[in-house]
Amino acid sequence: MKKLFIVLTILLLTAPFARSDEGMWIPLLIEKFNIEIMQEKGFKLTAEDIYSVNQACMKDGVMIFGGGCTAELISPEGLLITNHHCGYGRIQAHSSLEHDYLTDGFWAMSREEELPNPGLTVTFLKYMEDVTDRVLKGVKKKMSEKERNEIIEANISEIVAGASEGNNYSAFVRPFYMGNQFFLFVNETYRDVRLVGAPPSAIGKFGGDTDNWMWPRHTGDFSLFRIYADKNNRPADYSEENVAYKPGFHFPISLKGVAEGDFTMVFGYPGGTSQYVPSYHISMLLDYVYPSMIELRGTKLDIIKKDMDADPAVRIQYSSKAAGISNSWKRWIGEKTGMERLETINKKKEFEKEFSAWVKDKRRRDRAYGHILPTYRTLYDKMQEYYLVNSYTSETLGRSGVEAITMAASFIPLVEAVHNEADDDEIKAILERLSSRISNFYRNYNRSTDEKLFIAMMELYGNNLDHKWQIPEYRDLYRSCNGDFRFMAEDIYRQSVFTNHEKAAQFVSAFDSRLISELEADPLFILARGVNAFLNERVRPGYMEVSREIANLDRLYMKAQIEFADDELLWPDANFTLRVAYGEVGGYEPGDGVYYTHYTTLEGIIEKDNPEIYDYDVPDRLKELYYEKDYGRYAQDGKMPVCFIADNHTTGGNSGSPVINAEGHLIGVNFDRAWEGVMSDLMFNPEQSRNISLDIRYALFLIDKFAGAGYLLEEMTIVE
Ligand code: ARG
Ligand code: GLU
Repeated sequence: MKKLFIVLTILLLTAPFARSDEGMWIPLLIEKFNIEIMQEKGFKLTAEDIYSVNQACMKDGVMIFGGGCTAELISPEGLLITNHHCGYGRIQAHSSLEHDYLTDGFWAMSREEELPNPGLTVTFLKYMEDVTDRVLKGVKKKMSEKERNEIIEANISEIVAGASEGNNYSAFVRPFYMGNQFFLFVNETYRDVRLVGAPPSAIGKFGGDTDNWMWPRHTGDFSLFRIYADKNNRPADYSEENVAYKPGFHFPISLKGVAEGDFTMVFGYPGGTSQYVPSYHISMLLDYVYPSMIELRGTKLDIIKKDMDADPAVRIQYSSKAAGISNSWKRWIGEKTGMERLETINKKKEFEKEFSAWVKDKRRRDRAYGHILPTYRTLYDKMQEYYLVNSYTSETLGRSGVEAITMAASFIPLVEAVHNEADDDEIKAILERLSSRISNFYRNYNRSTDEKLFIAMMELYGNNLDHKWQIPEYRDLYRSCNGDFRFMAEDIYRQSVFTNHEKAAQFVSAFDSRLISELEADPLFILARGVNAFLNERVRPGYMEVSREIANLDRLYMKAQIEFADDELLWPDANFTLRVAYGEVGGYEPGDGVYYTHYTTLEGIIEKDNPEIYDYDVPDRLKELYYEKDYGRYAQDGKMPVCFIADNHTTGGNSGSPVINAEGHLIGVNFDRAWEGVMSDLMFNPEQSRNISLDIRYALFLIDKFAGAGYLLEEMTIVE
């Protein structure tokens, strides 16, 4: 048996399209494609229980939370659970040095104490539909891409208009399989979502960026919110009159826990994957893009972390930003190592060889597909340079770069409007936008930290980017300070409007168009405008052109790969639409001679405890509960479970997704993937790719025993 298993896994590892529990599947098509396999693996419910338009079902309990997370309902009173890191920005917005909910946690002890969050929404899927035929109506084989796109766009507008007529829903059409198939999505968005509870960061972010993307993990990564609706249970803006939303479905919560081999399913919104790209794409990332980006972000993090450690106010201001910068940075490192270990490029090349042989085998195929791989090759030669310049410029002087420069960039529309002699109304609208941006921006801005970032980014940009891709404004500055940005930065940061809250606010509130020339003389503004112009004129046109050509080729390559796969079903890349992933609970071997078990417990938190290290400073109350073994009904074999892993195929966006057992009960909340398997966005490795979930029993234990907010459990449906 064991031998057979080994032979099988070797086969699975060498065949690029062999599927285990890989894939993120379309809810509407579960009945057709997946339910049998899922039931074989132990799932006891039907496809209709997951997705249906005829009855209340799981999809009615799953939402997009905010901009890029998933959440699920856990009570008939609109109570939802998502990750702590998904609610983080909101928890931070309610925090100050006086009442610091990030550090101390927050628990509403009654409905009145729940905190509103302007701008926060949750979105439900009402229904989806395959609209491929309607989208492609009128499209002919021999058409130019431009004609094709025009027809498709017109068809889509018509479909969307029809679907949103006479209701409050929003509708949109998304391409699947690189534009070979199209689905319509009709959504409903609720706008009054209030914070109910969050553990202290020492629990909700336990392990911080140090443990992020890693297993074994001990993060209590959850937060609770409640959806409010008007009296008719419809979406409404925040109002005291609003009442708790009454959903058609909420997830029952199981206290039974998980064992190795158990069926699990993750139901949520994976953001994006690149499973079907050619080897050239992987080479571009591994050889060009990742090494540079990793260096840039590593440098930023060193600077920010040092200042955060030195000053609690800076910690509050920069913790969310640092987590964001660190998150992709660490994932890139993991993906790079993972793909090198998995020999992803070789596997892709191997696949491309077989694919080419298959193409050559038939004249018809050769004519249709023979050009694909050679064309990719020339396109990626151009692509890698554009991609690198675009990302590098954005990360240093551009949109994701030095913050004072991004602030300066937001003044560009104002300066242009003045030059174009725009009317007063237009200028007024621009000033209003600026004024709200300014008040948000400077709350979390520390001039001295940003100045250090400025110096570092200016140096890296100058040293690492080919001269022909450096903006002339940068070269001027470089010459005027002889490449010594330290000295110059001090002057710039002392004098600039953009590094100073009062000056910026004053400029906007007492706006006088005669002062525009002052802005235009500001070195940060000169850089911001230079970057903008350079990217728009010299980089983006070429970049977009090549991207378009690649996208067109992707569509054809995908079509060919589906044909080549024959009767094997390929799953469509994630595109931030609702998907089902299924698999089983299980540990893995991170390296030779080591096995990681499938779960962690509170013992591990105590093992990691270290008051000297911010990320591992365990709250006293949690230690008390540990020493008293006061776990109530949430323990398993006398221990308090914390997290578990399974081989569900997930990605960014799946954070907060419900993890469901064979009975359809909630057993966990997805929040991460394990280091050795994070290259699963590009190539899944059944041996090592694992999603990490919070054990729901740990969340209940914290709400009940740690926070003393046990009253919240009364509205949940708990299955013992
Ligand atoms: N890696 C997880 C995800 O991609 C968690 C990120 C938040 N946590 C953190 N320590 N930065 O989003
Ligand atoms: N933490 C990720 C998120 O915020 C999920 C982890 C992953 O990429 O799988 O969506």
